[in-house]
Amino acid sequence: MRMYDIIAKKRDGQELSKEEIAYVVNGFTKEEIPDYQMSAFLMSVYFRGMTKEETLNFTMSMANSGDCLDLSKIQGVKCDKHSTGGVGDKVSLILGPMVAACNIPVAKMSGRGLGHTGGTIDKLESIPGFQTTMSQERFIDQVNHIGIALVGQTAHLAPADKKIYALRDVTATVESMPLIASSIMSKKLAAGADTIVLDVKCGNGAFMKNKEDACALAKEMVQIGNQAGRKTIAVISDMNEPLGYGVGNGIEVMEACHVLQGKGEKRLTKLCVILGAYMLLGTGLVKSVDEGMEKMTESIESGKAFEKFKQFIVAQGGEFSYVENSSKLVSSTYCDEIFADETGYIKEIMAYDVGIGAMILGAGRETKESSLDYSAGFWLKKKTGDYVKKGECIGICYYNEPYKNNAPSAKEKFKNAFIYQETPVQPVKLIKDVIE
Ligand code: URA
Repeated sequence: MRMYDIIAKKRDGQELSKEEIAYVVNGFTKEEIPDYQMSAFLMSVYFRGMTKEETLNFTMSMANSGDCLDLSKIQGVKCDKHSTGGVGDKVSLILGPMVAACNIPVAKMSGRGLGHTGGTIDKLESIPGFQTTMSQERFIDQVNHIGIALVGQTAHLAPADKKIYALRDVTATVESMPLIASSIMSKKLAAGADTIVLDVKCGNGAFMKNKEDACALAKEMVQIGNQAGRKTIAVISDMNEPLGYGVGNGIEVMEACHVLQGKGEKRLTKLCVILGAYMLLGTGLVKSVDEGMEKMTESIESGKAFEKFKQFIVAQGGEFSYVENSSKLVSSTYCDEIFADETGYIKEIMAYDVGIGAMILGAGRETKESSLDYSAGFWLKKKTGDYVKKGECIGICYYNEPYKNNAPSAKEKFKNAFIYQETPVQPVKLIKDVIE
């Protein structure tokens, strides 16, 4: 087999065999295929696409390129959740304890943030002492003992995806449906859960800007998951404004605590309840989404989900006082109000710009090497549909000395992210579709 012939075959729109795909993935991972040939291959996939069979084979080759977690020592049906990435998306922090409080084991690996989107692991590391790495034995022990463990993704999980993603990032080949679907699903399959719930974001702050594209991506991923023998469900949710009020790291953990204490923003809480309901449905614990939603709501109202969250944070070394009094997580030197420069109803809030604003305050990474300021970020005082008068406070900007020079442009980005109209705004549906 020759890489040259495989590139030419894909370039000419022919279907690749399972063996040819395995040759590409394994050869590139072992550094036998050079970057320039892999770049040409990825660009030909970008233009020609992949058949369902090719996408599944590409996913399986990447999933099998490193460690595949064996979760069989954990009792019960294991469920995982994945978001395609958004701004202010702290759902995993909330959902894990909610589901674990219903006695469904949560053994989760999460990633770090890059660019305008944050990562669950970075957010958890804003709690002093919290450990995001542990041995596989301890990971499994913790899940068996308290029902939940959440760690960072190791370099050994789907290493082929890691290498391919890095190349896609610099060759303008990230935005390809089969490449995104296989990249996400390779990691989810290697992480070992029996049931996977995907939160596919759709809107101005997401990869997929419209419902059609989001549904197409969701369908590809659901098909891959089910073909691989894992029950997979995708929920398409709105990302035309940041999720909840907080955007940052510590600030998002604080907001997660608010939701778990039953005082969270309505749409964020609702999204957690719905995703959790599908997780319970996927594991067979409930027979309907409505029953799942009832259980999820009850996990918050009874205080069990917040208790589970505290137990989980302490088990991984986090300082208890920061969850008991989560406002300690937002301790920046500066906190400036941001004022509206228009009057009107908020039509949408460009989540991407808010994410970039938070990044330049130190809350996100511009490059993989960037360090983070855990207490920096934004708190939105107004959301889509609200009526705002010129000069009214629309948000708060938190930052520290090293980023002081960036604060004016971060505030400008935040302010310009708000789009107004004169007439009242029709509420945007939170859940756009569900693919089962
Ligand atoms: N997230 C991933 O893990 N992979 C992609 O290709 C896009 C988003």
